Amino acid sequence: MALHTPEPVAPEWLAVPKDLNAIDARVWPHNLRRDSNGELTFTNGVIDGGITVDELANQFGTPLYVIDEDDFRARAAGIKKALEEAAARIGTTAKVYYASKAFLCTEIVHWVDELGLSIDVASGGELAAALAGGINPARIGLHGNNKSLAEIGRAVSVGVGAIVVDSEIEIERIASAAQAQEKVQPVRLRVNTGVHANTHDFLATAREDQKFGVPLADVPALVAKIRSDRHLKFLGLHQHVGSQIYSPEGFIESSRRLIAMHAELLAGGEIPELNIGGGFGINYKPADNAPEVSKVAFAITDAVAAECQRLGIKVPALAFEPGRALVGNSGITLYNVGTIKDVKLSDAVDAKGLPAVRKYVSVDGGMSDNARPALYEAEYHTVLASRVSSAEPALSRVVGKHCESGDIVVRHDYLPADVAPNDLLAVAATGAYCYSLSSNYNWLTRPPVVAVRGGSARLIVRGETEADLFARDVRFQESAKAPKIEKS
Ligand code: LLP
Repeated sequence: MALHTPEPVAPEWLAVPKDLNAIDARVWPHNLRRDSNGELTFTNGVIDGGITVDELANQFGTPLYVIDEDDFRARAAGIKKALEEAAARIGTTAKVYYASKAFLCTEIVHWVDELGLSIDVASGGELAAALAGGINPARIGLHGNNKSLAEIGRAVSVGVGAIVVDSEIEIERIASAAQAQEKVQPVRLRVNTGVHANTHDFLATAREDQKFGVPLADVPALVAKIRSDRHLKFLGLHQHVGSQIYSPEGFIESSRRLIAMHAELLAGGEIPELNIGGGFGINYKPADNAPEVSKVAFAITDAVAAECQRLGIKVPALAFEPGRALVGNSGITLYNVGTIKDVKLSDAVDAKGLPAVRKYVSVDGGMSDNARPALYEAEYHTVLASRVSSAEPALSRVVGKHCESGDIVVRHDYLPADVAPNDLLAVAATGAYCYSLSSNYNWLTRPPVVAVRGGSARLIVRGETEADLFARDVRFQESAKAPKIEKS
């Protein structure tokens, strides 16, 4: 395929792909290949074995979330090992919590449990799902800046391993729940270290302007309060510096601040652990260059060791809470193409002086199954899934079917110019924060989730039906119950 000058309306990072049909292993699930017909297939290791995207779409419909189970298991186990090794290098241990908000159903809890990870939940609903998935409550950590008394009471009664205190008022709430149940509840304290990290840079101020955690300056008094309550056990400090982070500096700066505080608090008694949080970034598109988790982890633990040595304290046991890095690249979304429009962009001309054109490719889902582009201007990558094409690359935008111009699934990518209605598109790296942020906007039903393993597919979350939506519509339900009166 010829190389083309990028369209003037393409962002700088978007190169015209050398091969539009290529499946970049850094972005897509491990077991996704093109078969000899050119169709995307989740392989079972045998040439042309496995399940094709057409088979998946025919069996389960579109849009469809597909999770490569072995890919998830390999990533989760690999990240657990990397974090454990990074900790072992500095003579300590690491506990790895899967941040379940990224993607949660009881099946994934079961995988996480089998892999020996712990799980982080951030609401009563997530707690219920984790418990229903069969994980030992001692391996659950409960987060949340506004936990209800009912959520706290339930967490204490099932015996979660840790509740992360997010404010002063919660100390009393947790203590009184523990007292009422005659228990001792282990707690961590979430600290707002003033560090906010993102992919390329980080902000470090006295205090970050956001709702989570308590300011560093308040920590000594709050820890004293926790320690003085015999129904609470203080486990240590917690930080979470942000999400989709590529460089270790933010983690390091925040950890230094936390360790200095940890060292100060040791005067009041033992502190078993330090929780570094989650936020490791992933590749969403071929232009991305996320570092290996192990690299970032080594940088963090080296800094932790250096700081502990400087302060003359023992390195505490570490804990981490990654979500996206475990599941993001294991999932894809399949869509069916509907309407296509070539939209001339009047204010831009291409290399030949002609108006630049963007191909708007509408699919059968959108912001209801992937809110991230609308919420965070997140960028995704797509390929034609049901066939290969040798057509010219066309600058394209994949959009949904919702009544909003911000309803974009893939803002900037190239698709073959012959993309046509009824083609299937696959969008990469939709495993994290897509299903979990899905909605029923415009009364669209949430898509099903299937897990693929060994080349065969299994439904793990059934898709919603219109009946599910009507089941909550009171007038509809009441009229359905009302006796039907024949009109004469
Ligand atoms: N721990 C805590 C306390 C968190 O708040 C989060 C994410 C995590 C761990 C996991 O972060 P991860 O490793 O997945 O980046 N909806 C946004 C991300 C929000 C993350 C909220 N907290 C997105 O789609 O990018």
